[in-house]
Amino acid sequence: MEVYIEEDYNALSQRAVDIIAAFLKEKPEAVLGLATGSTPLKIYEMLSEKCNKKEISFKKVKTFNLDEYCGLTSADKQSYHYFMKQNLFLKTDIDEKNTFFPTDFKLLHNFYDAKIKASGGIDLQVLGIGRDGHIGFNEPGSKFSSRTRKVSLAKPTIEDNARFFKSMKDVPRKAVTMGIATIMETKKIILIASGEKKSEAIFNALSGPVTTKVPASILQRHKNVIVILDKESAKKLKNNPGL
Ligand code: PGA
Repeated sequence: MEVYIEEDYNALSQRAVDIIAAFLKEKPEAVLGLATGSTPLKIYEMLSEKCNKKEISFKKVKTFNLDEYCGLTSADKQSYHYFMKQNLFLKTDIDEKNTFFPTDFKLLHNFYDAKIKASGGIDLQVLGIGRDGHIGFNEPGSKFSSRTRKVSLAKPTIEDNARFFKSMKDVPRKAVTMGIATIMETKKIILIASGEKKSEAIFNALSGPVTTKVPASILQRHKNVIVILDKESAKKLKNNPGL
């Protein structure tokens, strides 16, 4: 694992953008795995700016999002599809026909993994982490062999996601997520985390045992992971000489 500890959220976003932009210049037809949530927001803003300045292009890029709530359409403001449109797709030259979400395939979620495979596999996956150590919506206890499927959200995740809804009861309880095995098949991963509330999860994921109790800990077994943190999320790693 290559670990970068940046001064703050802006610097961590910039680091990620530099890597993604260089990647797209080298492989304009890259297949990207994308995450939603607060952490990648600045990354998408900076990538959109770069695209507008014609420094990079998404014209030939394909994207596969990590997860999506069940029961929300792309027109629903709380859906991840809507989030991606507002924060990246509509601000770049991407062809929306090349953007995919795990709920696109109704109950046949295996189709999502098959579609990823048929596209040549995900070259670069942007990944966040939940404070319970989840990746995508693979909550603690998820099997490392899991593939894209329908899941129930854990309580801390419902609580964290409530900030985007009118009230807790409006937060969907079900989602479809890429599985852990699906994520582990991606060729390169950028794991991003910001803020002190992620510090425990980051510590457990990077320094703890590989266990299904901390789904992100499996990333220790992936050959090509870049971890980009700000000082706050890296707080608990500070005295770890192994990193
Ligand atoms: P966040 O979500 O970026 O909104 O903190 C990350 C996640 O839960 O995976």
